[in-house]
Amino acid sequence: MEQHSHDFDPQHDEQREMSLQPSRIQIRWLIRRDMDEILNIERQSFGRPWCEDGFLSALRQRNCIGTVAELDHQIVGFMIYELHKSMLRILNFAVAPDARRKGIGRQMVQRLVDKLSQQRRNEIVLEVRETNVAAQLFFASAGFRAVTVLRQHYDDTYEDAYYMRYRIAAEMSGHLPTNRIAGIDAA
Ligand SMILES: CC(C)(COP(=O)(O)OP(=O)(O)OC[C@H]1O[C@@H](n2cnc3c(N)ncnc32)[C@H](O)[C@@H]1OP(=O)(O)O)[C@@H](O)C(=O)NCCC(=O)NCCS
Repeated sequence: MEQHSHDFDPQHDEQREMSLQPSRIQIRWLIRRDMDEILNIERQSFGRPWCEDGFLSALRQRNCIGTVAELDHQIVGFMIYELHKSMLRILNFAVAPDARRKGIGRQMVQRLVDKLSQQRRNEIVLEVRETNVAAQLFFASAGFRAVTVLRQHYDDTYEDAYYMRYRIAAEMSGHLPTNRIAGIDAA
């Protein structure tokens, strides 16, 4: 991911509100009309925000998908991701600052996790700036793990990126299926 500000704030822990009921959040496809609100969230979230052209050229790619989260008919988050043969790759993702720590980001990621399957796409990957501790903690709490450090990954700083991955649990390969019928005590 290109640009991510560092918004780790320990005091936030005390201020945070209860998570919202999942039913209050609507996650739907992004449409062109959403762009102003998305750009607003993007600018409030990143030191080097994507511009409108950045969003449009990403979304023009056949394998690129945009979603938004709505709360009371207002856009409070967005996610841009790519579909690859065996994985999903998050390119850009943010929740509006005043809507954070309510479980919205987690629901958006969960929506992606629900798309994974053992047979097809079985992992989600992303890059996060080394200074973006909040996002690292967020993804770690959602089951992602940092698997590689990408040295000096960005052209605007000397920062490294952590390449993080979520993988669905492998099926119990190597174990022969139990024959439950045979296991039943015949007596
Ligand atoms: C990262 C981001 C999308 C998280 O969205 P969110 O809606 O606030 O996240 P959630 O409320 O679903 O948080 C789920 C859990 O993640 C962890 N978490 C989220 N934000 C955190 C923070 N600032 N510090 C520590 N842990 C955090 C917590 O475990 C949290 O659960 P809790 O609130 O019950 O403790 C949001 O902080 C954001 O938009 N940041 C700026 C943009 C950005 O960095 N995007 C990701 C680029 S890689």
